[in-house]
Amino acid sequence: MKYILSPSILSADFSKLAEDTALAVRGGAEWLHIDVMDGAFVPNISFGAPVYKCLRPVSDAFFDVHLMIDRPERYIDDFLKAGADLICIHCEATKEIEAIAEKVHAAGKMFAIAVKPATPAEAIKDYLPLCDMVLVMTVEPGFGGQSFMADMMPKVAKFRALREDLGLDYMIQVDGGISLQTVATAAAAGANVFVAGSAVFKPGEIEKNAQAFIEKFKTFK
Ligand code: DX5
Ligand code: ZN
Repeated sequence: MKYILSPSILSADFSKLAEDTALAVRGGAEWLHIDVMDGAFVPNISFGAPVYKCLRPVSDAFFDVHLMIDRPERYIDDFLKAGADLICIHCEATKEIEAIAEKVHAAGKMFAIAVKPATPAEAIKDYLPLCDMVLVMTVEPGFGGQSFMADMMPKVAKFRALREDLGLDYMIQVDGGISLQTVATAAAAGANVFVAGSAVFKPGEIEKNAQAFIEKFKTFK
């Protein structure tokens, strides 16, 4: 399994997004995690498509767009046009999972479903064949810098078991509280894509922090 670092720009300095994300990429990050929040699905507002659209021409990274918004079906076209390579929606936020997956795939992009801590893996079992990735939230979505919920690891393992049972090949992402200390726990449970916000975007240490994750991945089986 290939291990991927997806630094969350939510923890970056928004006045230097191009510079700081370039440092993370130089440190070995292949993806950038883009947290869109609407102040309704989660109790915080971050930014929307116009912001990461500005990054698109200056970054070759894979844009991993995590939509923490109600009824994301209203904006999928905008998010695709702004340069998303992957669109991740929350199953708790929409009744139109299939239609969204179809639209994203028709654009040649990847589709993922995220589950909040209280949502069991079984809730999205029927949709797994549509998924290029599943996202197991390891904090309550809404804010960076929270503590990793190790009790989500059985859910990660469940998605790994379902992938095997159903003969599928989706990636498994974890998001929230991922650090050099917690990343191995998540990898052991079956995750291979790791979102890290506050553990990467520290002023003056961004490249070094990304590099440390990449070195850590080499110790995984
Ligand atoms: C939380 C966001 C995360 C957040 C992670 O709702 O989805 O992507 O930025 O931040 P850290 O890594 O600091 O927990
Ligand atoms: Zn996220």
